[in-house]
Order: sequence, then C-alpha cells, then structure tokens
Amino acid sequence: MESPFKPDILKGKVALLTGGGSGIGFEISVQFGKHGAAVAIMGRRRNVLDSAVSALRSLGIQAIGLEGDVRKQEDAARVVEATVKHFGRLDILVNGAAGNFLVSSEDLSPNGFRTVLDIDSVGTFTMCHEALKYLKKGGPGKGTSSGGIILNISATLHYTASWYQIHVSAAKAAVDSITRSLALEWGTDYDIRVNGIAPGPIVDTAGMSKLAPGEVVNKSREMRPLFKLGEKWDIAMAALYLASDAGKYVNGTTVIVDGGLWLSQPRHLPKEEVKALSRVVEKRSRAAPAGLPTSKL
Ligand code: COA
Repeated sequence: MESPFKPDILKGKVALLTGGGSGIGFEISVQFGKHGAAVAIMGRRRNVLDSAVSALRSLGIQAIGLEGDVRKQEDAARVVEATVKHFGRLDILVNGAAGNFLVSSEDLSPNGFRTVLDIDSVGTFTMCHEALKYLKKGGPGKGTSSGGIILNISATLHYTASWYQIHVSAAKAAVDSITRSLALEWGTDYDIRVNGIAPGPIVDTAGMSKLAPGEVVNKSREMRPLFKLGEKWDIAMAALYLASDAGKYVNGTTVIVDGGLWLSQPRHLPKEEVKALSRVVEKRSRAAPAGLPTSKL
C-alpha cells in the first residue's frame, strides 16, 4: 500500500532498529528507508540480518545489519557505536526486539519470566541508555538541529489482563513506564521525544503465529470493532508519524494501533433487543417506581 506521507520526511536521518530484520521491525525499516532515512538493523541472527539488508538495499535504501543481543550491554554499546561510525550520526532509535511465548503462569519458571523482562524491558532501557549521547541535542551525533526520537514497540496486553502472557504483560507495562519517564526527563533536558506504539494482532508476524493460532483468530473475529487484522504497514505508518515532524508535539504517549480491539467486550444483548427492552423497562418504572420514594432517600 502506498504511503500517505511525503517521501522525504525522514531525509538525512539515521535510524537504528532492534528487531529490525523481521516482522514489524523490518516493515518499519523499509518505510523509514523509503522516506529518506538510512537504517541500521540489529538482531541476533546473521542470516536474518543479511537477507533483510539485501532486501533494503534492493529498494535503494542505505542499510547495514549489526549482530547483537539487547540483553548484553556491550552489544548495545557496540551496535550504537558501529551505527554512528558507519552513518555519522543517530537520530532515531526503535526498540522492537521482543521475546514471547504462550505459557500459563503456573508453568512459567522465574527464569522464563526474567528472560522476557530482560529482552523487552531491560533491553529497551539499555539501548536507550547507550544511544543517549548521540540522540542528545548538540551531542556527539552532531548535526541534529533538535534532539532525537525514541520509539518503543509495546502491546495492549497489560491494559487489562491477558491469558498466558504474565511475563509479556509485565514486560510491556515496564516498557510503557520507561517511555513516560524518559519522555519527561530526556524531553525536558535534551529535547528527545520518546513514544511507544502498541500494535494489535498483525498478520504475517511471529507474534501472530506464536500467540494466536488460526482457530483463536477466527473465534475472536466477531468481537473485533474494525473486523479485521492489522498489517505491518499500519504500524510502520504510526512509526513514521511519531518519528517525523508530524509528531513534533507528541511525547510520552503510546499510540494504540489495533482497530480498537483492546476495548472489545462480548455484546451481551442484540441491538434490536436493547431498543425494545429499554423503552419497556422505562415505562414500567415510571408506572410503578421501584424501591423507596425519593423523599425517603
Ligand atoms: N514455555 C515455558 N517456558 C519457556 C518457553 C515456553 N514456550 N520458552 C522458553 N521458556 C523458558 C525456558 O524454559 C527458560 O527457563 P528455565 O531456565 O527456567 O527453563 C527461559 O524461558 C529462557 O529460555 P531460553 O530458551 O534459554 O531463552 P532464549 O534466550 O534462547 O530465548 C525466548 C528467548 C524464550 C524469549 C525465545 O522465545 C526468543 O528468542 N524469542 C525471540 C523472538 C520472539 O519471541 N518474538 C516474538 C515477537 S511477539
């Protein structure tokens, strides 16, 4: 699908994306590149990085792939340095690396819980920490007229509660909290905008195949307000909005891109029944008010 944004909205910017070699992260890399940015993608698997980089280059996008695990501070530091060494600066950091699997709380070991928090929450903070000096206004990244941008990919799981996702819910709650704290501190001190995106179920992603096998998707269909799954493109467009000047006054928020799914509840009465029923109930209560007279209340 064609982008509604002008092709130069990220012209001259350099973006580093963790988890940028596949899924939603890759689509954000493509769209950032198509809108003028040079992109560095970080991931654990060399082969995934290599094929992502050649796909990006075939689109005319300046791209490099850097191997590393966000759980290791030395990897985070090395990848940030390599990005700046290669492209000369760093303007946008996207924290997309995440770990996930379905498991009931009673079957999840504390180490399994910790592993996902290490990747999603600590990993996000570590990358932000290592990138700060380059994202700062007038910092060693030089040339940035304003501070940089951080985008944290989150989820909606923790807004209520989600079955078999205690670890990811806790991890993403921490990510949203990190987004707000850094938006406050680094927005004030360095003019860095920090925002998040909470995607709903997105077709053709590892998240969907791991967390929502086919039959679950079909069952939840009638509860979904926009009645369809999202596309990676939807998330990339939100990322473009937040990373470009279109979002210049947006700081510390997490944009939900899920078609309203997180608001879904089963419809307990058909609409026609409500129309009929509510009039009848009102008439009945006017004719014979239930309970105490108002003067006694
Ligand atoms: N159910 C229950 N526990 C699980 C599990 C599962 N499906 N998968 C892993 N764990 C537990 C392990 O048993 C281990 O705990 P233990 O030492 O107490 O046994 C702990 O989690 C770490 O597992 P390990 O396989 O050593 O971690 P890893 O670093 O190799 O992999 C994961 C990290 C588990 C998050 C892996 O799924 C991953 O790398 N995911 C990245 C990609 C991804 O999930 N993307 C999703 C996007 S939504």
